[in-house]
Amino acid sequence: MDMPTKALLFFALLISCTQAADPCATQSDLSIIHVYGKCSPFDPPKPEPNWVNTVLNMAAKDPARLRYLSSLVAQKVVSVPIAPGQQVLGIGNYVVRVKLGTPGQTMYMVLDNSYDATWAPCAGCTGCSSTMFSPNSSTSYSSLDCSLPQCTQVQGLQCPATGAGACFFNRSYGGDSSLAATLVKDSLTLGKDAVSNYAFGCITAISGRSIPPEGLLGLGRGPMSLLSQTGSLYSGVFSYCLPSFRSYYFSGSLKLGPASQPKRIQTTPLLKNPHRPSLYYVNLTGISVGRVLVPIDPKFLAFNPTTGAGTIIDSGTVITRFVQPIYTAVRDEFRKQVQGPFSSLGAFDTCFTATNEAAAPIIAFHFQGLDLKLPLENSLIHSSAGSLACLAMAAAPNNVNSVLNVIANLQQQNLRVMFDTANSQIGIARELCN
Ligand SMILES: *[C@@H]1O[C@H](CO)[C@@H](O)[C@H](O)[C@H]1NC(C)=O
Ligand SMILES: *[C@@H]1O[C@H](CO)[C@@H](O)[C@H](O)[C@H]1NC(C)=O
Ligand SMILES: *[C@@H]1O[C@H](CO)[C@@H](O)[C@H](O)[C@H]1NC(C)=O
Repeated sequence: MDMPTKALLFFALLISCTQAADPCATQSDLSIIHVYGKCSPFDPPKPEPNWVNTVLNMAAKDPARLRYLSSLVAQKVVSVPIAPGQQVLGIGNYVVRVKLGTPGQTMYMVLDNSYDATWAPCAGCTGCSSTMFSPNSSTSYSSLDCSLPQCTQVQGLQCPATGAGACFFNRSYGGDSSLAATLVKDSLTLGKDAVSNYAFGCITAISGRSIPPEGLLGLGRGPMSLLSQTGSLYSGVFSYCLPSFRSYYFSGSLKLGPASQPKRIQTTPLLKNPHRPSLYYVNLTGISVGRVLVPIDPKFLAFNPTTGAGTIIDSGTVITRFVQPIYTAVRDEFRKQVQGPFSSLGAFDTCFTATNEAAAPIIAFHFQGLDLKLPLENSLIHSSAGSLACLAMAAAPNNVNSVLNVIANLQQQNLRVMFDTANSQIGIARELCN
């Protein structure tokens, strides 16, 4: 596109957006907002025109995330010294607005489906940024004692060996950060639903750069998660639609409970790993590039609860990562079908002249009982100047001895992904959530 056309388009967009009501004011309560989007509470720099660099910057955190996901069995606490000050956007990619306490205090929490517990920075927290939950201003707040059963469910628990005490824990997050918190309870309001006595971590100190500034909403499968704590309210079902990375003005949505889910949706069984109870494992059985079913040794796809091998769907990793042999096989087949030469851009090793994009094959993930054909925007990303298109996936980083395949954000854009723990299945349907 030449400059005048671009400028015109931008201008037209600007007009149409200023004429419409402020999209941020009219959002439904459970909107999912991209941290770089217009409605982001974190006031990020506008990512255009270096969009691909923004994505690559976000993806720079993926190796740490993968290391973290791969280490969930060991549950080791990474100890990092407490240092105040953090990079505001060194956090998960999507936030959702919730309210804590009575009356409700608004917090924009990062959505994390691979993590169980919810936590929020509390007044007085060391190293946290400005927006904090104030327990003193809530009439429904109470702390939890070490002797209570909920307390045994948190990871990194540090209760006194004898006697009573606040349920205190210290644990790692995101591979390079840790937080110290006490377990407390208060009401959590999600859209129109108020959940009373919701147990969450009240953060007293953080270290590292990956702690979400306004807390985290744990949507994992384990005992402390939103699904576990809400029981029959949502019957173990939620779904999200992540807005396109490029849709600056739009947001997606979180839907809780079976009633609000699509009636027609293809599903695949959810696999349960007792060693990693938080993670949503699925049975990825193959990958197609165009009409070719890529030859992959089934051992790299197989689910193994002991080693943690298999495939998960994660809302916190930016680009999909396959174990090296799978990625290489997919990439090689892709390169066969697209005109080279190929170059690299950050984590992407298969970039080609964008004018050859018309010939780019559709990539499909085959899950047991569900074939997901990726829309082009979920498999290709363009360089800032628009002259290159890159295959938007990568191999697990070298320094992560990973056996885990992670289906990440970029590949989930504009899809409704439904997690149904009651019927042990995951549903995926195309949805333009922007
Ligand atoms: C909350 O109230 C308690 C008891 O009145 C007080 O000791 C504490 O300093 C207050 N905390 C904050 C952060 O205001
Ligand atoms: C967590 O515990 C470790 C080891 O005791 C400590 O070094 C670290 O500073 C603690 N983290 C926080 C945020 O308090
Ligand atoms: C995954 O699907 C394949 C093909 O349907 C099946 O043979 C295999 O047993 C499944 N794996 C698990 C762990 O369910």
